[in-house]
Amino acid sequence: MQKIKEYVKANQQRFLDELFALLRFPSVSADPQYAADVRDTAEYVAQKLRDAGADNVEVCATAGHPIVYGEKIIDPNKPTVLVYGHYDVQPPDPLELWETPPFEPTVRDGKIFARGACDDKGQFYMHVKAFELMQATGTLACNVKFMIEGEEEVGSDNLGVFVKANKARLAADVVLISDTAMISLETPSLETGLRGLSYLEVEVTGPNRDLHSGVYGGAVANPITILAKLIASLHDENNRITIPGFYDDVAELSDAERNALNEAPFDEDEYKQDLGIKALWGEKGYSTIERTGIRPTLEVNGIWGGYIGKGAKTVLPSKAYAKISMRLVPNQDSATITALFTKHFERIAPDYVSMKVTPHHGGQPAVTPTDSPAYRAAEKAIEEAFGKKPIPTRGGGSIPIVSLFEDELGLKTVLMGFGLDSDNLHSPNEKYDIANYFKGIETIPLFHKYFAELS
Ligand code: BES
Ligand code: MN
Ligand code: MN
Repeated sequence: MQKIKEYVKANQQRFLDELFALLRFPSVSADPQYAADVRDTAEYVAQKLRDAGADNVEVCATAGHPIVYGEKIIDPNKPTVLVYGHYDVQPPDPLELWETPPFEPTVRDGKIFARGACDDKGQFYMHVKAFELMQATGTLACNVKFMIEGEEEVGSDNLGVFVKANKARLAADVVLISDTAMISLETPSLETGLRGLSYLEVEVTGPNRDLHSGVYGGAVANPITILAKLIASLHDENNRITIPGFYDDVAELSDAERNALNEAPFDEDEYKQDLGIKALWGEKGYSTIERTGIRPTLEVNGIWGGYIGKGAKTVLPSKAYAKISMRLVPNQDSATITALFTKHFERIAPDYVSMKVTPHHGGQPAVTPTDSPAYRAAEKAIEEAFGKKPIPTRGGGSIPIVSLFEDELGLKTVLMGFGLDSDNLHSPNEKYDIANYFKGIETIPLFHKYFAELS
């Protein structure tokens, strides 16, 4: 541990400078306008892997954005850690809400503000620096493989193809991911599950063209009103989702498991204050921790239609749209839920309108074991670096490829995230605490050490 701390201290400024350079690339995967920047980011990551001592580093072309691969095989008899991360980021808008530009990393109050600072550039780059440290100090205890992709924020479609085509190259004993959150540096935690996702778009069509709202209003159903009613009907008075069959496959936790989850510290007043809300909302009978971890949810991500420009226009629109997503828990299946939603929404649509439901991407929920050598190695590493044993928690977000690693490579994942829920992921002013960055770099070599010992 002393050696690790010394190396990090001696290289502190460079570790920050390199991350800042990475954060300056606007690697927005969703917007084709940034395709060249995404490619440049991949090249930068590949070069940094080479500089750190990785072999067979390659920027692998896909039908979309490239995947960066690199490895260090020290001994085929030693266990292999497959590090997964993503160098792509969410779009930065709304730009006017950023205090400093999203792709000009700025330090305020010990925090790095930039798009991707936490999700996931700041987090996967800790692994590159931890690897450099282990190489430079001759302490590498496991074989390491890196797979850093550029399409996580848009559903990882091409990663599935890559994984299926590269099973031998990706053979490993565990997948290690830092792309989740912990409670705090004072209360470290390890996420032991991720929710799945079903994402779709609905289009409601009323009259065959936009109409004068005075001439036709009152005689023709307004598709926006209809859509609003349909959406409102998706939750009942207990805030449960009304889609028939939606809860059929939900794994219910035992009272003991629920009690254990609820032991994690949670300050409701602080939570409300941080978000600027007066009261919390959610499924009756469950705590906030449960609502965001072990229960499925449905959210409207966007709704539009009619006239939204400046001033007023008296129109009865022809169309209304919404983007809707559902977070899923074990043992719900993304395709089944998408089908249930589609059937239900088409059925409840009244004759005044026609309804089109188009699925987007999805992903399966995942739980990670807490009794494996890899989990115990993460636990020991965190305990040593933080002075406290991590609390197991269930994460609300989704990393759809975790279930793919299990299905295609037979690998379990350890979610050793160092972010905080308050890091503004996908929001303006995303940040990552410098302290978390360095703490992560210190913890990762300990994971490798203990994983080699325990497996
Ligand atoms: N890193 C997040 C997922 C995450 C965040 C997990 C916080 C746990 C805690 C990831 O980059 C992400 O944003 N995933 C998307 C899904 C994807 C298919 C777009 C998500 O969760 O919305
Ligand atoms: Mn992420
Ligand atoms: Mn994300």
